[in-house]
Amino acid sequence: MMKIYFAPLEDVTGFRFRNLFNSMFSGVDIYFNPFISAVSPEGRHKKREEEDVSPENNESLTLIPQILTNDPGDFLNTADWLMDMGYKEINLNLGCPSKDVAAKKRGSGFLSVPDRLDRFFEEVFEGFNKSGHEDISISVKTRTGYRDTGNMDRLIEIFNRYPLSEVTVHPRLGKDYYRGVPDMEAFDRFYEEIRHPLVYNGDIISKEDIAGIEEKYPKLSAVMIGRGLIGNPALAREYKGGEPIDHEEFRLLFRNIYKIYRKELNADKYALDKMKELWGWAKDNPMFRDSQRMIRALLRSKNPAEYESAERMIFQR
Ligand SMILES: Cc1cc2nc3c(=O)[nH]c(=O)nc-3n(C[C@H](O)[C@H](O)[C@H](O)COP(=O)(O)O)c2cc1C
Repeated sequence: MMKIYFAPLEDVTGFRFRNLFNSMFSGVDIYFNPFISAVSPEGRHKKREEEDVSPENNESLTLIPQILTNDPGDFLNTADWLMDMGYKEINLNLGCPSKDVAAKKRGSGFLSVPDRLDRFFEEVFEGFNKSGHEDISISVKTRTGYRDTGNMDRLIEIFNRYPLSEVTVHPRLGKDYYRGVPDMEAFDRFYEEIRHPLVYNGDIISKEDIAGIEEKYPKLSAVMIGRGLIGNPALAREYKGGEPIDHEEFRLLFRNIYKIYRKELNADKYALDKMKELWGWAKDNPMFRDSQRMIRALLRSKNPAEYESAERMIFQR
């Protein structure tokens, strides 16, 4: 049985969401926070990011903190801060497709400058050795490239040369965001070549998808799932032999997520936009087969009252 990781989803899977989800649904082994930006020793982490990873806000679940940066000094500094909180593994974001992020050679943009990535790892691992922190694990979450897969072999060679604890691959290019289908040929190359524990991520939405991946890639240590766990919140539980989701669970989850977003995002408009994004992932769940017209109304709603009334109708069925 593979482990199931909950993928980080910015502005979706903050600590309140994770605690709510984890209290309602079993089956997720590890959660990843939406990335926090590393800062230099003179800098300060954002209050929101600090709150998101603070151990007291994550007591009931296992969290691996994820960092976005291309600066080894900043990485070491933020890693120190996280280690002081008790974290033993830190994940580097090499996948963020955002144009602003990638233009600065961070996230998936970092994959377009492999020499620089090589030096980054060299300095990071040297830094940990110097400070006596050989016990810290560094994992990465990567795509297959930024513009094309031309750097892939070089990236695999670099990943293999450092003592990474795990490599999660979302087999898309940075420039493709979430479009198209995962590039399974590219993933095959990682599966053949990577000498670290490997995790598959991308477009898993059903138990059958998980079984298919497990059969094709029996050596994987885990699969990471993001949108599929919103579309079917009981997916990990079902994979591990538990019950499928029932109507009332779905209602309670979405109701409470909505409350959380209204509190966290402190703008009704933004909370509504987020909920619509979630419904976009949930609408194909067979539970809502007969509610498509109401879901379209919900997706058109312009204020909390309209949204709430559409949601009530969906769950009244
Ligand atoms: C709204 C949104 C926010 C995301 N934020 C992050 C993030 O902060 N860090 C990260 O590594 N990936 C992030 N991702 C990528 C997901 O973690 C995941 O790799 C991607 O959604 C593919 O997996 P899925 O098909 O199971 O959702 C984000 C994706 C979405 C859709």
